[in-house]
Amino acid sequence: MTSPNVDLTEETIFTWGAPPLKFGAGAIDEIGFEMTGYGVGRVLIVTDPGVRALGIPERIAESLQSHGIGSEIFDGVHVEPTDDSMIKATEYARAQGPWDGFVAVGGGSAIDTAKAINLLTSGPGELMDFINKPIGNAKVPEGPLKPLIAVPTTAGTGSESTAMCVLDILSMKVKTGISHWRLRPTLAVIDPLVTMSLPPEVTAASGMDIVCHALESYTARWYTTFDRKKPEQRVTYCGSNPVSDLWCEKAMMLLAQSFRDAVHRGSEDVEARSNMMMAATFAGMGFGNSGVHIPHANAYPIAGMVKDFRPAGFPQDEPMVPHGMSVSLTAPEAFRFSFESAPDRHLKAAELMAPRADKLNDQREQLPSVLVDLMRNIGIPNGIGGVGFTESDVPDLVPGTMKQQRLLATCPRTPTEDDIAGILTRSIENW
Ligand SMILES: NC(=O)c1ccc[n+]([C@@H]2O[C@H](COP(=O)([O-])OP(=O)(O)OC[C@H]3O[C@@H](n4cnc5c(N)ncnc54)[C@H](O)[C@@H]3O)[C@@H](O)[C@H]2O)c1
Repeated sequence: MTSPNVDLTEETIFTWGAPPLKFGAGAIDEIGFEMTGYGVGRVLIVTDPGVRALGIPERIAESLQSHGIGSEIFDGVHVEPTDDSMIKATEYARAQGPWDGFVAVGGGSAIDTAKAINLLTSGPGELMDFINKPIGNAKVPEGPLKPLIAVPTTAGTGSESTAMCVLDILSMKVKTGISHWRLRPTLAVIDPLVTMSLPPEVTAASGMDIVCHALESYTARWYTTFDRKKPEQRVTYCGSNPVSDLWCEKAMMLLAQSFRDAVHRGSEDVEARSNMMMAATFAGMGFGNSGVHIPHANAYPIAGMVKDFRPAGFPQDEPMVPHGMSVSLTAPEAFRFSFESAPDRHLKAAELMAPRADKLNDQREQLPSVLVDLMRNIGIPNGIGGVGFTESDVPDLVPGTMKQQRLLATCPRTPTEDDIAGILTRSIENW
């Protein structure tokens, strides 16, 4: 056999995974039917108090009941989950279990909490065993988890299609996560009608999460530029690749079409809500395989070290910088920094996100300018200063970003501590 001219010491392989999907108005009423396919008898529905008050979990319980499947609703999910809240949720599930399967209904907070419950009730191990290194031990689940149907009620995280679960470690004031393909939901059921009730502020923040997923994935390091790995060493994030790119491009086009409408007329515009749900899932299918970089790495300390910020539209019982907002605040400056590593990709992304925007002489400014226009229009705070940080906080924020080496490694231009300090400082105000 002739040897093809391929250097097999470099990475040549990318992997791509996503759960099956059921999408469309009224889809949540088919969850009972879908669950029958997994042969389950007793299911735990995992949600937060805000989503429970909308009556969606009860509707799912009725659908399950109509197919002979018993269920209980746990509504103790903490909005932006913590180690403490996930441990309490797991204790509840262990005490009331065993469960044959789970339905997660809510935003990323509920879906991620359900992933953790599923992991910790399906096999041995405690939360910190599985958390990514260096904070936890990055233990690998020993066997398959139970069936988990994920039902997103925000258009943002894409958690319904990813293999990740994100949480705050309260004692360390850091955000981190668990990342393993076994965490990926068994099925995603996406019903755009459940998002009609989303307040404009939640629509804006979670929508910026979609924007950053698509942009960071699209501008991530190309998969062949990583060192070659053995199959068992390959991580969930493998860098941008031809399949992730397709999903991200389509997500950007949908965002261009519908993000502003979803924020400003979301309670009546079914098409805008539908496009945003598709954009969220598509971007999840992109970044969930390729990865995200600097804006997400910066978001971890920005959210973890929150001061007094209490955004409208979210629970007011404690200060928080919602995930999508925290991700977006340094994005314009991060893309100025990464521009030189892949100018064509940054320009193509700007074009997809805003096809009618004026073309600037300074090409590096094109994508930041598209982002700033969007953020001003939908009411995102003006930079990290807008959520309470000043220049004197930057030295405290930098180590939190630098701990996210898993994400920074995906950036096509590797940032130093000084680079991150510069990006944060110049993001005190974005306009
Ligand atoms: N696992 C992943 O791949 C992944 C990716 C990105 C983000 N995340 C995580 O997801 C979390 C954020 O999730 P999110 O942005 O989806 O928001 P969320 O789940 O935190 O919910 C935000 C608020 O919206 C309310 N809400 C949800 N659906 C509603 C509806 N239909 N109508 C009215 N109110 C509704 C909730 O009650 C809550 O108060 C963060 O913890 C973040 O770190 C996970």
